[in-house]
Amino acid sequence: MKRTIGILTAGGDSPGLNAAIRAVGKSAQRAHSMRVLGFLDGFQGLMQNRFVELESEDLSGILTRGGTVLGTSRAKVDKMDMGDGSIRDMRPLMREVVEQHELEALVCLGGDGTMRNGLKLEDAGIPVIALPKTIDNDVSGTDVTFGFDTAVTIATDAIDRLHSTAHSHHRIMVVELMGHDVGWLALGAGLAGGADVILIPEIPYDVEAVASSISARRDGGSSFSIVAVAEGAISKDDASIRQSMVEHIGNSQGRQRKELKKKLKEFDKTRVGGTSQLASTLAGLTGLESRITILGHVQRGGTPTAADRLLATRLGAAATNYIAEGIHGVMVASRGEETEPVPLKKVAGITKSVPVDHVWVRAARELGIALGD
Ligand code: F6P
Repeated sequence: MKRTIGILTAGGDSPGLNAAIRAVGKSAQRAHSMRVLGFLDGFQGLMQNRFVELESEDLSGILTRGGTVLGTSRAKVDKMDMGDGSIRDMRPLMREVVEQHELEALVCLGGDGTMRNGLKLEDAGIPVIALPKTIDNDVSGTDVTFGFDTAVTIATDAIDRLHSTAHSHHRIMVVELMGHDVGWLALGAGLAGGADVILIPEIPYDVEAVASSISARRDGGSSFSIVAVAEGAISKDDASIRQSMVEHIGNSQGRQRKELKKKLKEFDKTRVGGTSQLASTLAGLTGLESRITILGHVQRGGTPTAADRLLATRLGAAATNYIAEGIHGVMVASRGEETEPVPLKKVAGITKSVPVDHVWVRAARELGIALGD
């Protein structure tokens, strides 16, 4: 029987997924004479043994396409929502599927959640190789994730376009960017798009300080300001409340710990919609009109940039070489121009936040861009 590998995409979609599927598939077929089975809709499709055999014609013409031809889901391997109100550990069933097809490895394309799921499958006896994708760029152990460059490019274009209307109407334009709990996307697009204020979760902000920087710009003759705010950005007051909640959780156990975690989740939910509150507070404090733009899923859509295609292609090709060498339980990381297999247990569950002394942060400060602190 021909050597066979499986591939799936999990978590939120991201530009470059199809480029990676193509690279894994083509290199598996051409360089290693392997069959490639594509499981549909992430780990859910693996559990249900829903797959397509990817032939060479299925891999043609997908390099430039956004989304994922395999479909995706946020299903968790050990806490699968069965749709009837029950949550079950489905790893044994997934292992049966892998054994039935005699898969040499399962290539999982995803972000941090996928690294965690991949490690759980590896621990359950399924050989996993993961590739890091996400527009958030928050996967540790790799220089960068594919999808990030495209999202930065889309968001930068949006910020560029906001400049002319902000300038014409003398307004504060607050633009919210994705990024989950980290600020890579807001910082990258904010810098590239020439935002005047950039607010990221790693640097809690003081709304009065933000307003003063906008007023100072107006007094200096610039009667408009662009504020790029990460969806996870947090005020200093909320950050200190959150910090004490986290500490409380750390000191608790059992049922109390569960309750406190639930409270923290609820607290985080109340912060959603904070962008509109921020914009109106800034208007009140500065006397300037404000408007908000929430870029949302536009940042994840459409064709990947050349940089993301290149990254996805070289990581995908490297993955099949590692499989051929018998390596598994790893994420294929980008390290400079090379790739490196990094053990999943070193990356799973570790969020790569923006270091507060990162070169982009330092550059922003040196240019006089306000970071709200
Ligand atoms: O992880 C990618 C991401 O786009 C985050 O930036 C965002 O917080 C989240 O996914 C949105 O998820 P969903 O598409 O499930 O609403």
